[in-house]
Amino acid sequence: MPAVRAHAPGKVILFGEHAVVYGRAAIAAPVQQVRATTAVMAEPRLPAGQVRLQAPDIHLDALLDELPAWQPLALAVRLVLGELRAPRLPACTLRITSTIPVASGLGSGAAVTVSLLRAVSTFLGQPLEPSRLSALAYEVEKIHHGTPSGIDNTVIAFEQPVFFVRGQPLETFAPAVPLHLVIGDTGVSSPTAIAVGDVRRAWQAAPAEYEALFDRADRISRQARSEIERGDPTALGLLMVEAQEVLKSMGVSSSDLDRLVAASLAAGALGAKLSGGGRGGNMIALVHSGAASQVAAALEAAGAVRTIITVIQ
Ligand code: PMV
Repeated sequence: MPAVRAHAPGKVILFGEHAVVYGRAAIAAPVQQVRATTAVMAEPRLPAGQVRLQAPDIHLDALLDELPAWQPLALAVRLVLGELRAPRLPACTLRITSTIPVASGLGSGAAVTVSLLRAVSTFLGQPLEPSRLSALAYEVEKIHHGTPSGIDNTVIAFEQPVFFVRGQPLETFAPAVPLHLVIGDTGVSSPTAIAVGDVRRAWQAAPAEYEALFDRADRISRQARSEIERGDPTALGLLMVEAQEVLKSMGVSSSDLDRLVAASLAAGALGAKLSGGGRGGNMIALVHSGAASQVAAALEAAGAVRTIITVIQ
C-alpha cells in the first residue's frame, strides 16, 4: 500500500503552439483521460535518505544517488528537497508510471514531473501549490528542450484551461459551453526539441516571414479565447482550420497529421489541427457531442493508432 499516490493529467494545446515560444498567446487544456502517476512506498527498514526510483516505462530502476544531476526524475526530486529545505527524504521507493504516450504532444514529460513533485512534497507533509509545482517543473522541462515556453508545466500543474503568454500572469478560464474534442494519434513519435529547433532555424533564416506567422497565430489565439468564452464552437472550429494553415506554413505539420485533419473534417468535425510540437504526435478535432464517436472512427480508418474523446469544461 503506497504511503502517497499522486497524479498529473495530459494536456492538449488548442491554439498557439510554437508561436508561444516567441511570446505570443496560446491556449491549452488538461486531458484527464490519460495521466502520470507517482506512488511513494515508505521503506522504514532502510537507512534514511535511501531513495529508489523506478520508472518501468523507461526501464529505470536505480538509487537516486547513482543518477546524474541532469537526469530529469532525479532533478525533480532534488528540486523538491531544495524547495522545502528538506535535507533528505525518509527511505522510500518512488514508482512512476504513465498512460500518456511519449513524444506525442500530450505533455507526458511535464506530467511525469508534476506527479513526482506532487508525490514527494505530499510525502514530506508539505504539498506544493500549483504555482510552485509549475515553476519547479519548468526547470525540468528545460532539459527536454532548451527554450520551453512553460505552457505544458502550467496547464498540467493547474489542471484548468489556460490562456498563456510567456512571462505574464497566468489566466485560467472556463468555456461557456463544454468543448468536445477527439484526439487522434499519428503513432509517429516526434520529440518537441527537434520541431522547436527547426522552427528556430527557419525563423533565423526568414525572420519577417516567421514573425508574421507568429502574429497570425497570436491573433487566432486571442479570437479563440473570445469564442470559447462566448460559447461559439462553430466559430472556434473555423479558427482551428486557420491555425492549422499557419502551422503548416511554419513547417511543423506532416502528411500523417494532414491526413487525420482532413479525415476528421470530412467526418463532420467543426475544425481540426495538430496539437503540440507537430511533425507527428497528436491532432485534435472539435466536434458536436453527438459526432464524437463517428469522428473517432473516421480517424482510426485514416490510420490513427489511437483516439481519445475528451471534454473541456
Ligand atoms: O510538448 P509539446 O509537443 O506539446 O509542445 C509544446 C508546445 C511548443 O509550443 C511546441 C513548445 C513550447 O515550449 O511551448
